This record gives sequence, structure tokens and C-alpha cells, in this order.
Amino acid sequence: MSSEFQALPKVELHLHLEGAAPPAFIRGLAAEKGVDLSRIFTETGGYRFDGFTEFLRIYEAACTVLRSPEDFRRLTRAVLAQSAEAGVIYTETFLSPDFCGGGDLGAWRDYLAAIEDAAAEAQAQDGITLRGIVTCIRHFGPDRARAPAICAAETAGDVITGFGIAGDETVGRPRDYAWAFDCAREAGLGLTAHAGEWGGPASVRDALADLRVTRIGHGVRAIEDPALVAQLAETGTVLEVCPGSNIALGLYKGWAAHPVARLREAGVNVTLSTDDPPFFHTDINREYAGLARAFDWTAEDFTAINRTAAEAAFCDPATRARILQRLEPPA
Ligand code: ADE
Ligand code: ZN
Repeated sequence: MSSEFQALPKVELHLHLEGAAPPAFIRGLAAEKGVDLSRIFTETGGYRFDGFTEFLRIYEAACTVLRSPEDFRRLTRAVLAQSAEAGVIYTETFLSPDFCGGGDLGAWRDYLAAIEDAAAEAQAQDGITLRGIVTCIRHFGPDRARAPAICAAETAGDVITGFGIAGDETVGRPRDYAWAFDCAREAGLGLTAHAGEWGGPASVRDALADLRVTRIGHGVRAIEDPALVAQLAETGTVLEVCPGSNIALGLYKGWAAHPVARLREAGVNVTLSTDDPPFFHTDINREYAGLARAFDWTAEDFTAINRTAAEAAFCDPATRARILQRLEPPA
């Protein structure tokens, strides 16, 4: 791997751990467990899907071979090695109790211990810091969102620092999930919600009002409502923008058509992430390269965006200070 931005230290706030699994990793696990997952792969070995709904189905099919804490330990180690190689120094990954023991708290503790183990190894060997955002999955429904919230609240601490919601944004309304977010907020967790990806500006307004999040996953469709853009800028709401994901899923035609630059020019706190990189044929350096080409963004622009991300990270003050320090260019 080599690219013009590889050496630039980066902060990533929006990465789904299972969504970062390389297809070869999932194929290997499927072979070990004797599961035929050939339908989810293309002839050239990538993930096969057409559109958002099928993406979610293929994603969940891939997760069926992640069956034990040891599988998640290996996955976490592989993902963090990949991120560190790309120049990421701090990453927040979404972790789903639904895929780690089905929402059972005892099982979740075992999975989390394995993930924390791999994170400690990555910190020592690769100098990358992981924090976890426990996530509920919207299309599993509000009742099933309670268990992940309880898992998050019960294991909040050094590694679990946030709570969020992912999945199909067209299902239900944010307020249906308010109990889960209240539970996580009371445990002191940072809050973020996927909105304004498949839902329009109203989905962003609802997530802010009903779930009282400080960050929005994606949020890019706020651009369709100038008053909302002004509100985001004024309140300092942070958007976890994943341009390559939006382009791969057909939300925008290409880098130049993506609203991230217009949002930034309007004073919105944008940050940059990859979402589910192997599904979307991207990595963080491809994101930066695409944006540099489309908008003439330089290393200084990206460092400013990474400072915004570090300021918005769900971490303790000492970690934030250390990350901010590492972002500074050498004198
Ligand atoms: N889960 C994984 N990736 C997602 C995305 N882009 N939107 C909603 N849920 C997701
Ligand atoms: Zn996402």
C-alpha cells in the first residue's frame, strides 16, 4: 500500500468492525466452518450486492461466520493492522452485540474481552487506538435495541465510549429508539445516529431532537435543507461523512457531486471515514485522494478535518490530547 496521504496521521470515527472484514477473511472463516457463502462473493472475490438493501443482507450473511470471541479477536486484529498501515492513529468502530452473542450480556462480555485484547495488542504493536461504539440495528426494531443499550451501559469504560444506531434508516422513526439512547446517555456514553444517508433532512432533525446525539453518521442529505445546514453549523454538530460509501451505494454520482465540500464551506464540522471499506472498494487514502482531486484539498485541509474528528472523538481528555499532538506536522 502506498499513496500520497498514507503517511498523514488520520482519525476515523465511523467504521463498522464487521463491515471492515476483508472478503478473504470471511471466505476463510466460511471454509473453516464448512459454510457455503459463495453467493455473497463475485468471481473476482469481492462482496456481491446491488444497492443498499442487498448490501445490508450480504453484510448480515457475512456476519453469520463470525461466531466466537476468537473470530472477533482475529477480525479486530486484522482490521486494526490494515487501518494502522493506512496511517490511522485513532479509530472508533461500531460493535454490534447482535452479532456478538445475540444481545446476551454475558456473551457480550466475552466477545468484548477478545476485542479489547486485540485492541491492546494493536496499540502496543501498531500504535493505533481503538474505541468502541456499541450499536443497535434499526431494522431489527426498537425492542431489540434495548439489549445492545444495556450491553453498552454495563460495559462502558476505557474502550466502550459510545452508543449508536445503524441499519436501514427507512424503518421506523428515531423516537422509537429513545429508550436505548436514554439508557446509554445515563451511562455517560457519547451518542451518534445514522441519519441523512437514506433518509432526507427530516431524519437528521429527528435524530437530533429525539435521540439528542452530538454526532450524525453520514448526515449528508442535510444539504437539501439550508436551514438545517445552518443549524448544524451553529450547534457544532459533527457529521461522520463517508463519501466513498455514498458514491458506491449510488447516493451521488461521483466525488465532485458529493456535498461534503459544500457542507464544510457552510461551516459544518465534517469528518471523514470509510464506513465498510472492502464492501465499497475503498480505504481512507482513496477517500482522501478522491477528495483532493475533486476539491483541491491539501494535507493541511485533511489535518484540519482530523483535528475536528479528534475534538469530537468519544474518548477521555488524555487520549484526545495525545491524538491531537500526533496530528501536528513535524516542526
Ligand atoms: N451498517 C453498515 N454500514 C451501514 C450503512 N452505510 N448505513 C447503515 N447501516 C450500516
Ligand atoms: Zn455506517
